[in-house]
Amino acid sequence: MSAFAGVAEKAGYELVVPPMFEDLGVFLRIGESTDVVTKEMYDFEDKAGRRVALRPEHTAGVCRAFVQHRPLLPWKVWYAGSNFRYEKPQAGRFRQFDQVGVEALGSSDPLLDVEVVALAADFYASLGLRDVSLVVNSLGDAADRESYVGALREYFTARVGELSEESRANIERNPLRILDSKREADAAAISDAPSMTAHLGAEARDHFAAFTAGLRALGVAHTVDDRLVRGLDYYVRTTFEFRSTALDASQNAVGGGGRYDGLVENLGGPPTPGIGFALGVDRILLACDAEGVFPADPPVVEVFVVDVTGGQEALALTRELREAGWGCDRAFDARSMKSQMKSADRSGARLAVIVGPDEVTSGTVVLRNLVDSGQETVSRAELVSRLGAIRQRETEQR
Ligand code: HAM
Repeated sequence: MSAFAGVAEKAGYELVVPPMFEDLGVFLRIGESTDVVTKEMYDFEDKAGRRVALRPEHTAGVCRAFVQHRPLLPWKVWYAGSNFRYEKPQAGRFRQFDQVGVEALGSSDPLLDVEVVALAADFYASLGLRDVSLVVNSLGDAADRESYVGALREYFTARVGELSEESRANIERNPLRILDSKREADAAAISDAPSMTAHLGAEARDHFAAFTAGLRALGVAHTVDDRLVRGLDYYVRTTFEFRSTALDASQNAVGGGGRYDGLVENLGGPPTPGIGFALGVDRILLACDAEGVFPADPPVVEVFVVDVTGGQEALALTRELREAGWGCDRAFDARSMKSQMKSADRSGARLAVIVGPDEVTSGTVVLRNLVDSGQETVSRAELVSRLGAIRQRETEQR
């Protein structure tokens, strides 16, 4: 999250924190024929009988906040937080998942689309991900989209016998969703389906051309896929998706977004264009694992105190060492020396401070190097400065 905050804030986006749940009506604007609304909403009645829902995404809530508070335009915001969708949980698909994202309201300049998409691409790159590809498309303006939906409905009706049951149900409801079907049974009919490009009006076409030219000018690699559709219904013009080739194809979308120029108006605000994206944090982490991007964290515990006098000595020693800036842990329940040494190894610490009855009598401790097994007896009073000298030597050797 802090990595994303850095990228977004440097580009002039300020943090917004929309509520975790809102009036159900806000989320119905995502599209009454989308799965997110019809099947996946966590909605319920509150004590006053109001119909509310846990947010399935952030965009609708951000636009509702805009309508309510009317900040100055352009309003560029970023967010990070959990979302809830009642989906069938599986690898990379969860009922609670996290997103980071941005929304930019108040401009239909295609160069804003370029800025937004480049920001996401830069974020993936800043994490060290290499196997992320970008697919872009234009869904046209509302009228273009309507004409395309009509053409698709006609086409799929003619080939209804070749469609899966789920896709057949979508012919009337939302034929765009059929294009997004991953079901084998639908593949042939989808591959011959009409393309959006022929239905784009002149304005949407110019907008898309300026957008892709901007991506090329910035060197943001992308492919155009005129069948790219998204699971939410508010999109017009630019849509895009980032896919990780390191993940299983069914859950490889690590982020996506697009323009939603009618959404603010739909929520009762003035006509206000908008564009944004959300990136799936859980899937990004899976992609990082698959690409081996993150090196293992160095162990936080550096010193492990082994106390065979009953535990009181370790109480004082761990506090003293933590105050001196050392990552320090200990065992409890007065366990045997052997068992405590095992815990010391497991903790990842490179040093053990061992104290038994003899050491207490002589005011010393045994300092053991857990890497090379060398050990020395050190005066208890000088322990912190001796550890400091070891740290200094290690830093110089690096
Ligand atoms: P979305 O495509 O529904 O778009 O979600 C964006 C990303 O969230 C996906 O690409 C995926 O990485 C992640 N995601 C979605 N559902 C799940 C899930 N069940 N489990 C794990 N990860 C998931 C939106 O949410 C739009 N609000 C994006 C947007 C912002 N459009 C304009 N502005």
